[in-house]
Amino acid sequence: MILIDHNKLSVGGIVSGGFGFTFVEATAVTPEGRITPENLGIWQDSQIEPLKQLVDFAHSQGRKIDIQLAHSGRKGSAAGDLPIAAPSAVSFSETSPVPHELTKAEISNLVKAWADAARRALRAGFDVIQIHNAHGYLLDEFISPIANKRTDECGGSFENRIGFTPEVVDAVRGVVPESMSVFLRFVALLVFVFVFLFFFFLFSVSADEPSWTNADTIRLVPILLEHGLDFLDVSSVGNSPNQSLGFLGAQQEHAKEIKQKLLVGTVGGIKEGFQAEKYLQEGVADVVSVGRQTQKEPGIVWRFAEELGVMIHVANQIAWGFYGRGVAKLDLKARTLPNRSIILNTPN
Ligand SMILES: Cc1cc2nc3c(=O)[nH]c(=O)nc-3n(C[C@H](O)[C@H](O)[C@H](O)COP(=O)(O)O)c2cc1C
Repeated sequence: MILIDHNKLSVGGIVSGGFGFTFVEATAVTPEGRITPENLGIWQDSQIEPLKQLVDFAHSQGRKIDIQLAHSGRKGSAAGDLPIAAPSAVSFSETSPVPHELTKAEISNLVKAWADAARRALRAGFDVIQIHNAHGYLLDEFISPIANKRTDECGGSFENRIGFTPEVVDAVRGVVPESMSVFLRFVALLVFVFVFLFFFFLFSVSADEPSWTNADTIRLVPILLEHGLDFLDVSSVGNSPNQSLGFLGAQQEHAKEIKQKLLVGTVGGIKEGFQAEKYLQEGVADVVSVGRQTQKEPGIVWRFAEELGVMIHVANQIAWGFYGRGVAKLDLKARTLPNRSIILNTPN
């Protein structure tokens, strides 16, 4: 992997765009764990320095930056000729390749790969490490009976299927300082049975096929808390083409339920400042993230801020043009409402 101009410009633009916190995309802990061949990676030391460039830029603007450590599992799209690995030799869809079933030794090596990747992320200077356990990628595959058909102690029961996730959380938690947060991007929502009816003629999957449920997520949360998780970023499922979000705002509802147990973030379909604010005010989530709209609309933080009447952080080099110089900054802090989301931080 090399840090391509796209990554620098994209992350740089987001950092400069006023966001309080920037998440660097899924960064693979092994070469075959890339989602696409262009995916970022952190499986060897030579990858530290390029990633550090992103971190240094964020820090130079007084911004915090997170790295997401990931393995694509059976949804890896052939990063070169490397084998695609998963809990079971079951493909994602009829057109997807059949993955290699990971051996127990390979699973142990992957736990170590996550720990090593976390060590490298620390050396690059990231503020937060996030583990990717959503969207039908490797860790999400292990917990789901759709993708995990194993008959050993890593498959079958809820307890067996969830075992890999706390192991990875432990491995990462074990190398990061106590003062630093470990985040997990996790899944919520299941409308498998309902969506099945719609897709019945397209896919030959049984409506009774067991799948990960929101009840499972809520059952897992206390276990993850015991393993030192600080924050759960509630996102969507992705282990079958037959799974779907179902309706706009569904992810927010599930984030709210899980929030009773720990700090959570929510994401999905957020396009308006009032919408983001509502989720915070109603206690749906502690943090609101915006994905696709940031790509479509680079000035989104400005627009949200104008809708809500709050100030945002402006890149150091141009802040004077918007907020004036010197003591004017103090007024900004006073004018910014308390307890805003991370996307609407006060200027430094
Ligand atoms: C092109 C693209 C790349 C994405 N990459 C990642 C990723 O690397 N890690 C991740 O957790 N989510 C990723 N997502 C999902 C987004 O973070 C987000 O959860 C999703 O798009 C829903 O939020 P939105 O409606 O604000 O876009 C990606 C989404 C898109 C469209």
